[in-house]
Amino acid sequence: MTLSSAPGKVYLFGEHAVVYGEPAVPCAIERRARVGVQRREDSKLRVHAEDLSLDGFTVEYSGRTDDHPDVDVSDSLIAAAMGYVDGAIDQVRDVTGEDDAGFDVTIESDIPLGAGLGSSAAVVVAAIDAATRELGVRLETDELADRAFRTEYEVQNGQASRADTFCSATGGAVRVEGEDCRTIDAPDLPLVIGFDGGAGDTGALVSGVRTLREEYAFAADTVETVGDLVRQGERALETGDLAELGDLMNFNHGLLSALGVSSRSLDAMVWAARDAEAYGAKLTGAGGGGCIVALDPTEATETALKFTPGCEEAFRAELAEEGVKRLE
Ligand code: PMV
Repeated sequence: MTLSSAPGKVYLFGEHAVVYGEPAVPCAIERRARVGVQRREDSKLRVHAEDLSLDGFTVEYSGRTDDHPDVDVSDSLIAAAMGYVDGAIDQVRDVTGEDDAGFDVTIESDIPLGAGLGSSAAVVVAAIDAATRELGVRLETDELADRAFRTEYEVQNGQASRADTFCSATGGAVRVEGEDCRTIDAPDLPLVIGFDGGAGDTGALVSGVRTLREEYAFAADTVETVGDLVRQGERALETGDLAELGDLMNFNHGLLSALGVSSRSLDAMVWAARDAEAYGAKLTGAGGGGCIVALDPTEATETALKFTPGCEEAFRAELAEEGVKRLE
């Protein structure tokens, strides 16, 4: 068996706008998906997945997701989990030339699904890395990130930027603008995360922003303003100015809210963090539900979030310096 792990991420700045070519700065966090892969004698895939949102299920199938495996979890979760694993394995077969390779795949993740912390990117990166190594091929990080991006792009019908997959593969703080992805220096950031227990529908949220942007010039301007804010945020990261980073995160949340991707529980958690005198707070990822990220070196935000109605979990997150980890 070959085992790899890859981290989740938060967006310090720039989600949604990144889809239209503006820059974004995601940052990898020490919450990981671990994927174990064992080659099979036949060409089937058997997937066992466990994470915060699923009780754990095992599916055995020979082909595509439309085989409708007989397990007791919602179709959309199965389709999501299976779609990403299918896509990752397609990339592995393509890059190794082993078109008929079959695998037993075990997924374990401490990243909530669909909550803005990059769970699918982490699973895809770790799966591609483990399965290629299981076949004796070791991909360079850039190639791994690219193959993982192609997987997400296909599974999400073209609604994906390179941000999540690049960040998960390389670790650290990164800057993504279109095809240009690079690691950037970041100070030690006191990140606190609040999770409402829910998930947003990324595809629907991205389409919602696209429609607004087509309909109203000021919505298109809002997307461009997020780009300006990200450039300012990069300068604040260079100087390590937490107060300015926090102000810009607050501003970014307001703009995301204007674009219609916040929710009552995300706003409640953002306000709890602000009232607790965090430097700043914003939703992270697609929105609609899921997580917020705040900057606070004290205990105040984490404590306030724990008492905020609608917040199911609050935790501190360390920056993950290392992206994909080769474990066995
Ligand atoms: O919610 P997440 O972690 O999948 O992030 C989505 C970020 C978007 O900018 C909305 C879409 C993308 O692929 O960049």
